[in-house]
Amino acid sequence: MTHQHWRLDYFSDLAMLTLDVAGQSANVLSQEVLNELGHILSEIDTKPLQGVIIRSGKTNGFIAGADVREFVAINDTARAAELAQLGQHVFSLIAGLPFPSVAVIHGFCLGGGLELALACTYRIAREDSVTRLGLPEVRLGIHPGFAGTVRLPPLVGELPALDLMLTGRTVSARDARRLGLIDEIAPERHLQHAAESLLKRHAPRHRAPWYHRLPGWKPLRPLIVRLLTPRVRRKAHPDQYPAPWRILELWRNRATEEQEAQSLGELLVSRTSRNLVHVFLLGEELKRRGKARPHGIEHVHVIGAGVMGADIAIWAARQGFRVSLQDQNAEILARAVKKAHAFFKSKLRDPRAVQEAMDRFIPDLDGQGLARADLVIEAIVEKIEPKRELFHGVEQKVRPQTLLATNTSSIPLEVIGQALKDPSRLVGLHFFNPVAKMQLVEIVRGAQTAEPALERARAFTGAIERLPLDVKSSPGFLVNRILMPYLIEAVKLVEEGVNIVTIDRAATEFGMPMGPIALADTVGLDICLSVAQELSEPLHMDVPENLRRLVAEGHLGRKSGRGFYAYDSRGRRQQSGPDKAPASEVPVTERLILRLLNEAMACLREGVVTDADAVDAGMVYGTGFAPFLGGPVRYIESLGETGISHSLARLAQEYGARFAPDPGWSQPDLLARRPQPPN
Ligand code: NAI
Repeated sequence: MTHQHWRLDYFSDLAMLTLDVAGQSANVLSQEVLNELGHILSEIDTKPLQGVIIRSGKTNGFIAGADVREFVAINDTARAAELAQLGQHVFSLIAGLPFPSVAVIHGFCLGGGLELALACTYRIAREDSVTRLGLPEVRLGIHPGFAGTVRLPPLVGELPALDLMLTGRTVSARDARRLGLIDEIAPERHLQHAAESLLKRHAPRHRAPWYHRLPGWKPLRPLIVRLLTPRVRRKAHPDQYPAPWRILELWRNRATEEQEAQSLGELLVSRTSRNLVHVFLLGEELKRRGKARPHGIEHVHVIGAGVMGADIAIWAARQGFRVSLQDQNAEILARAVKKAHAFFKSKLRDPRAVQEAMDRFIPDLDGQGLARADLVIEAIVEKIEPKRELFHGVEQKVRPQTLLATNTSSIPLEVIGQALKDPSRLVGLHFFNPVAKMQLVEIVRGAQTAEPALERARAFTGAIERLPLDVKSSPGFLVNRILMPYLIEAVKLVEEGVNIVTIDRAATEFGMPMGPIALADTVGLDICLSVAQELSEPLHMDVPENLRRLVAEGHLGRKSGRGFYAYDSRGRRQQSGPDKAPASEVPVTERLILRLLNEAMACLREGVVTDADAVDAGMVYGTGFAPFLGGPVRYIESLGETGISHSLARLAQEYGARFAPDPGWSQPDLLARRPQPPN
């Protein structure tokens, strides 16, 4: 019998099962793939074999997990639980084979892929720097559902198992070996031999030592859960992110596979999981766009070694690019070099890798790198004239094929492009602060920008593992444009006398990663002011007086030690005001969020981005907008447009025209606009 996704080979008295999912670049466990595996296992079950080896035929990895795209179509709990039961059943066939099995792992081995490996008698992983193992289900609002919650604890120990499931973190082959998740690690050329040898010598199965199993002793379980609760609460509000709480509950009750499937079924159709899956798929789509074309970029030249320029240069060097970093100020450049060294050391650890990264990172006071650069990224002060002057000079020094990019937050590309003979090669590469943490990069298209320049910019962004989002050159682009009215509203609330802790608390309880006041302090009040001023005219937004005053007094936020909050010398916020946020008469959350949603609608109506998904992707990956809500548009859809525009009209009567509902609210087709399928 021929199979579509699995290949079955026999050699001597062993069977080898190779997964190479048809039509996909990475192996995922769709129902079809699972069913096929089930058939093959029943077929080999009766054969007089000494063992079976399970491995992947893809170069990029073992198995990336269940097929997340299939989740979207599942609408009821029972159907979702059945999906888990299918996986559990097939993996129980592996576990029940009359001969031993071994999973041979390279690259990613995640979620359902790791659960498959857990059902095998042994696991071997390739020893390298790319192999990663983990159970990241919690990030999709679910937990392992193919018996992972049952099989993992006895293997690695109770607390390490909880840690892996609760954080969703992945571990290297070496760390997995240390944990007991993997029996052996071996270089590529020895993998096959190591697998055969494990099978033939009937090595004993690994089990966690008694002291790692001890916390699983029944009377201790409730106590452990109580100890872990504060840690989980810091990360996940039970109403917003129920999955980690379910993991604790399943563990406390020593749940069976049946209970695991039932619980997974409930989570998979929950609002949180549906939204997190939406966010995940948006990210995958942006990644795909970042990989669509070659970029031909080896050398990146960054100008401006301030907050952004230094971080962009460091990040690009970390991702393997040769980078020259230019600044007019030698001291600032020296600071950037120090920062780069500290960053590489903390991320790469291996001294040789750190040295190699430092070799790729070249401080360049005179701009010598320009002549060799394939890409120039400008990140100097946010002022029109200096930027124009700079680009005018740059154009004369670079090669004709060099891509030119600006990191401007608010200046229209057309305005900067006037300084260039050929403005078609100028794109915006708008990074977010901090670069190492914020995944999004807005790819800004000016009126004259040529498509090939945009393609290279997207491909470069993908190559440095950031997510490229296409936006039109218009004030504030997408993310700042939507964020700014929300920040300004927060500052207005301060002016009205509402406590800053109350304002920030309202936003974090809504699900934002940080309150707007703390965010303004972190970004820098001078930056906020300059973006607000830039946007004030086109968006008819007045800039609050207290923001101007703070900046004029030199209180720029965290970087100057004082903004709305006060900070110590290490940038930690000082306790300010009462411990408990005082209640407010004013509808704080409603005012903040509705301004944000109204602006999101305006962006859609004006075509700043082409579709509703781009708004969600931009706000979640660019600002951390409550992922469990799936982004502003998902949130709008869950509330209903009519209700929102009525609330806006009510707020407009009470607080003024800035709340006036955008005309887009009466064009429902705007929200339904989805990206065109890839050609
Ligand atoms: P910054 O003030 O920290 O750094 C600017 C650097 O450029 C300084 O080190 C300065 O010495 C250098 N510089 C100025 N003129 C120069 C010239 N002609 N040649 C060489 N070096 C020169 O500014 P920051 O915050 O890094 O912003 C840079 C750009 O990035 C701005 O366009 C800003 O709008 C944008 N941006 C800033 C974000 C933020 O959160 N700070 C976020 C996203 C974009």
